[in-house]
Amino acid sequence: MAYLVINGGRRLEGSITVNGAKNAALPIMAAMLLATGECTLRRVPRLQDVTVMAQVIRALGLQVEREGSTLRVSPAPVITPAVPAELMRQLRASNLVMGPLLGRHRYFRVPYPGGCAIGSRPMDLHLKGLAAMGAEITESQGFIEGRTTGLKGTVIYLDFPSVGATENLMMAATLAEGVTVLHNTAREPEIVDLQNFLNALGGRIQGAGQDTIRIEGVRELKGADYRIIPDRVEAGTFLAAVAGAGGDVLVRDCQAEHLLAVLAKLTEMGAQITLQRDGIRLQSPPRLRAIDCKTLPYPGFPTDMQPQVMALMTVAEGTSVLVESIFENRFKHAAELRRLGADIKIEGRVAVINGVPALSGGQVEASDLRAAAALVIAGLMAEGQTWVEGVGHLDRGYEQLEVRLQALGADIKRQF
Ligand code: UD1
Repeated sequence: MAYLVINGGRRLEGSITVNGAKNAALPIMAAMLLATGECTLRRVPRLQDVTVMAQVIRALGLQVEREGSTLRVSPAPVITPAVPAELMRQLRASNLVMGPLLGRHRYFRVPYPGGCAIGSRPMDLHLKGLAAMGAEITESQGFIEGRTTGLKGTVIYLDFPSVGATENLMMAATLAEGVTVLHNTAREPEIVDLQNFLNALGGRIQGAGQDTIRIEGVRELKGADYRIIPDRVEAGTFLAAVAGAGGDVLVRDCQAEHLLAVLAKLTEMGAQITLQRDGIRLQSPPRLRAIDCKTLPYPGFPTDMQPQVMALMTVAEGTSVLVESIFENRFKHAAELRRLGADIKIEGRVAVINGVPALSGGQVEASDLRAAAALVIAGLMAEGQTWVEGVGHLDRGYEQLEVRLQALGADIKRQF
């Protein structure tokens, strides 16, 4: 199994370019099931999750070709509206095909995703919304089936602004009869990107980025040529790495307005941040300061940056309090950070972190994607050598992370 070997304590200098957003690519690839024309998607990151999503839409019948960071997808003459179980197990976001399949083909069958490393992650909001639009949903023997004689526009209130449920319902509603209004929707930039893509196909959607989205059903969606937004979590991870390891780096091709909460917290920790025309520059302080931080739906602090900021807190001067309000079980990285000398106490969804002067290298194992990023950051900050196992998780969301960090001066290598 691959692992990363990091010799910590190297300053990071230079510039690094951010790739396209994984969490924008995945729903947009699912939305291609709605299109009757060819779709070209640009700036698609080369990631394991994107490969699995390509396998999902291929298994459903679409033709998918990849050329570098461009994906060309042709509509299917025949759709097989059932997601194979082994693909669903690898990628929870494959549940995003439910809305498009129901909207266009009036039927879907997907395996129920099992428990997940960061919490139970139910799908009740997706299913309640689809049922409100006129779908008959049945759950049996580990599968969910949805069928309809034709979805109808309606008003739906989401109990929680779930990203996936907002996306599934938006996609289902694009071809429904009449107008659908979604209230208390997630406001993430990736939802705005999905709206822009669907509108490029000929959809009539407005309001994404706010808490109410209005979708006027149309008869048909055609093809489009579309470029996805940069990955704000990747950008945030690079910025956190520089803040922790020390250095002066320009993170290129990212949108600062998508990162306001992260930039505010890094500034509070003492980093100097300058917004430039070509990116975000971060200059690290001699020592980070402790802060309090709580994850919230966008535009609040993203849960996908919580592990990375926890890594920084381990060496910040003072006591930090970190609250995880989105996922119930997303502190597994704390135990690994402790192996490197971190002082972290966990009580339910609250972590109290007493900053130590320095971490010391050791052997750690990542339990999920962002935990892996946090452990890489910890390895860059630590004195001595750190081995990070579970690198497969990292490749789900970061393209050649170690190669790109090497270019900034990090001493990090992949070994098999
Ligand atoms: C998306 C992101 C993920 C990010 C998360 C929260 C993608 C592909 N993934 O995941 O990286 O961490 O948003 O920002 O975009 N919930 C329910 N019932 C539902 C749906 C969700 O209770 O029907 C709960 C979940 O258990 C979780 C919370 O809502 O506690 C947030 O989930 P959601 O916003 O749906 O996240 P995802 O779309 O799965």
